[in-house]
Amino acid sequence: MTIMNKQMILHAAEIATPVGKTAAYGKKMNDLTMIQDGAVVIEGEIIKAVDTTERILSDFRAEDYEIIDATGKCIVPGFVDSHTHFTFGGYRPDEFLMRLEGKSYMDIMAAGGGIENTVQATRISSLEELYQSGVKRLNSMLSFGITTVEGKSGYGLDLETEIKQLQVMRRLNETHPVDVVPTFLGAHAVPREFEGRSDAYINFLMSDVLPKVAKQNLAEFCDVFCEKGVISIEHSRQLLLEARKAGLSLKIHADEIEPLGGAELAAELGAVSADHLLEASDDGIDRLAKNHVVATLLPATAFCLNKRYADARKMIDHGCAVALASDFNPGSCFTDSAPLIFALACIHMKMSAAEALTAFTLNGAAALSRADRIGSIEPGKIADILILKYPDYQYLVYNTAVNIVETVIKKGKLLKH
Ligand code: NIG
Ligand code: FE
Repeated sequence: MTIMNKQMILHAAEIATPVGKTAAYGKKMNDLTMIQDGAVVIEGEIIKAVDTTERILSDFRAEDYEIIDATGKCIVPGFVDSHTHFTFGGYRPDEFLMRLEGKSYMDIMAAGGGIENTVQATRISSLEELYQSGVKRLNSMLSFGITTVEGKSGYGLDLETEIKQLQVMRRLNETHPVDVVPTFLGAHAVPREFEGRSDAYINFLMSDVLPKVAKQNLAEFCDVFCEKGVISIEHSRQLLLEARKAGLSLKIHADEIEPLGGAELAAELGAVSADHLLEASDDGIDRLAKNHVVATLLPATAFCLNKRYADARKMIDHGCAVALASDFNPGSCFTDSAPLIFALACIHMKMSAAEALTAFTLNGAAALSRADRIGSIEPGKIADILILKYPDYQYLVYNTAVNIVETVIKKGKLLKH
């Protein structure tokens, strides 16, 4: 007989959490539930109760639980990083320096560098190599308090390597404490073999790759890098419709560099999220709000590419549910730093600390269709919980770009201490 893991976190200076089983839209992003001298009861993987320490101690027998003392510390939900490209071979530091000297991300890509460089390195990496580097990357994310992460393929752009990347993520999900949500991004670029034949490449993805990904259940989402000079609106629509038919949910890299209408396409297709959105139109933003498409913003990418930030204020004021994510990848944004994201969101995108917390927890969960299970500290949800070094969640922003996560509880298990 296995003994159920039973824990009680007591005397937290503050519990700060969004609440709900769906994304928080617009003004609601500011509504955190705060409990002073808070306590959480965990049974197995699940949160059983959340209340003041006084009430929890009168309702439950403390001696039946392992006690975690959180005196002087704040408790928040585990972070959900809903947009990354963490499974890849090789690195591209030279491109970072080229950008510092004035070359743009798209110039480098058009000259045959960029994603294509990582494609070559990923194709020659073995499944084991990708798995081992994946473990290290997930360990790093976990130390920042990221308890669920989405990961995209898209560095194969051929059948074998796309499948290999997705298999690596499946294995990581099975073996690593961080939950990994896999996304098929075969349309990340048109590979060299198909140069000038983007029609043929999209057809190849639809006839040869997507059906196998769907049949083996290797991806939950399908994403497209919908961008001028990469994958057109028409091709994006074609592929995403086919993916939807195959049972995948949809995401789009939308309006990152040019205002192409990616946000509008995401709304038209009922995508779960539209991501980047630096150049999204006002109409596109309205449609995201009306169609309940999560607007996923990736400020660390704007920072690394030295571009203007997405207009988070406009999106929230127009009623969008905004999520924050890292976009961790070897090209445009080689950082998984959660504290950097909090700093950029609040300092440059003018989000409040409460909005940023909601965006990186509940709304990140919604961007992965998991808001009913994770993203907040509420009875019935999975016990993914962070204990911070300080008594108040505002230190996530105030202690600028510093990791203040002291303890990570993942599915009820104490991991980082
Ligand atoms: O989201 N924009 C497209 N894809 C990634 C970058 C991938 C790369 O440069 O390797 C992004 O920024
Ligand atoms: Fe991306």
